[in-house]
Amino acid sequence: MPDFLKIEHIRKTFPGVIALDDVSFSVAPGEIHTLLGENGAGKSTLMNVLTGLYHPDSGEIRIDGRRLSFTSPRDSLACGIGMVHQHFMLVPAHSVFENILLALDNLPNLFSRKKYRARIKQLIDEFQLDLDLDSPVWKLSIGAQQWIELIKLLLRDCRLLILDEPTAVLTPQEAERLFKVLRQLKKQGKSIIFISHKMREVMEISDQVTILKKGRSIASLTRGEYDERKLAALMIGADKIPEWQKNLQLSTQISLDIQQLSVRNDRGLSDLEDFSLQLIKGEILGIAGVAGNGQKALAEVLTGLRKASHGRIMANGEDLNNSSARHSYIAGIAHIPEDRKTIGIAPDMSIDDNLIMKSFKNSAFARGIFQDKKSIRRNAQEKIAQFAIKSGPEGTPVRYLSGGNIQKVIIARELSEKPAVLVALYPTRGLDIGSAEYVHKVIADGAAQGMSTILIAEDLDELLKLSDRIAVMFRGRLIGFVDPQNSSREEIGLMMSGETGENDGGEA
Ligand SMILES: Nc1ncnc2c1ncn2[C@@H]1O[C@H](COP(=O)(O)OP(=O)(O)OP(=O)(O)O)[C@@H](O)[C@H]1O
Ligand SMILES: [Mg+2]
Repeated sequence: MPDFLKIEHIRKTFPGVIALDDVSFSVAPGEIHTLLGENGAGKSTLMNVLTGLYHPDSGEIRIDGRRLSFTSPRDSLACGIGMVHQHFMLVPAHSVFENILLALDNLPNLFSRKKYRARIKQLIDEFQLDLDLDSPVWKLSIGAQQWIELIKLLLRDCRLLILDEPTAVLTPQEAERLFKVLRQLKKQGKSIIFISHKMREVMEISDQVTILKKGRSIASLTRGEYDERKLAALMIGADKIPEWQKNLQLSTQISLDIQQLSVRNDRGLSDLEDFSLQLIKGEILGIAGVAGNGQKALAEVLTGLRKASHGRIMANGEDLNNSSARHSYIAGIAHIPEDRKTIGIAPDMSIDDNLIMKSFKNSAFARGIFQDKKSIRRNAQEKIAQFAIKSGPEGTPVRYLSGGNIQKVIIARELSEKPAVLVALYPTRGLDIGSAEYVHKVIADGAAQGMSTILIAEDLDELLKLSDRIAVMFRGRLIGFVDPQNSSREEIGLMMSGETGENDGGEA
């Protein structure tokens, strides 16, 4: 089949950074083309070039053989290229229908509003999307919000759909549904560029995989020509995957005693209900559950971001319930939040400053009342090397870093004061496989030195691999514990859906 899209020798630089050095590949109609590459390899930058947000320094983009030059996202949309944005551009208080209309070039009149409504309904039926047109957007799950972004593009008859890490924010069930829709789109002849760090997904959905390394396309392989191992080897090259071991000797000391915590939300409903747990020193306690079953509320009360309506959080003889985030941190509870862009970092500050933002106790970074710039820089250099953070020139604001590299900055900072307890939500989300392994190693090494971790994750493979114990949450309650050595994904999956096993409600 002739290529629909041809990308030739694209180069894009930023001051002090070569984001794209030389990228070439083609996409055929009806092809799902995956872009794979380490954090900072240039995937998102390339997509921003394709959608007209950035202008390349050199190179060509062709569609149906015709050379294109975009000056804005509007131009690329007119050529049939559309992107499902990761930070959804939706108005929360407006309905689904209104949000879709807002994306059209001209706001339709009453008559054509009806036509659009019918057309959108048809799309919802055709792809069997679970979406109520009249519901306000704020009420919807992330998965449903993603459907809106997709419908916007389908309404405009986009021929190439770009999805930059769409599954990073989805539950495994939502991701499956998305894949079904992508396959259907493919059958209709649409081309799709898909980005993900999850190998399981890459293997499942791709027709073609292009590997980017340091801004260069180093290989394009067709399904059948590759397996997981080959892709990983190409992507990682000479870099080594860190190795680590589980700490098998647990202490008997309790580092955190969570007693009957309940948390109510604005609507008076409970996000967390009578939650009790004793966290052992040096333990990695996994928390499994479908997103939205109280995990976030638990993390927020433990780290002082929210108040519990009932219960106690005992650490070192002190009740940390109702203490501030700052106090919780000083008391030894670190936090890797889910929403890294809003509470994880100060986007306009440099890496150096972001890394010391929570060093309240550490006098190494101060000289009298002034900051000691030299030691702050030295600290940053250490962390950048240790976590292989791709950082750009000194002083670059953190918001210019790639998604995965921002995540690494947060993790490096949270672990730098040697916390007694780490509350980690989806810590490896958006990380490439090497970086994800490094974070696993850091957590395991921390455990060996006595750090306890509450690991909230959705990836059961990750939970089974790291955890000493797994607690399962459902509707704000802890419904039981499982032993990762002796339980299967299926068993845990069943408990996550509310089925309690033999160890129903039991304490460990
Ligand atoms: N606007 C910008 N200004 C300066 N540097 C930038 C800008 N956008 C991207 N970069 C740099 O370009 C490089 C590639 O970043 P990009 O976001 O494309 O990576 P990525 O492959 O999408 O990584 P990830 O898997 O972490 O999302 C990074 O070093 C990043 O810091
Ligand atoms: Mg990216």
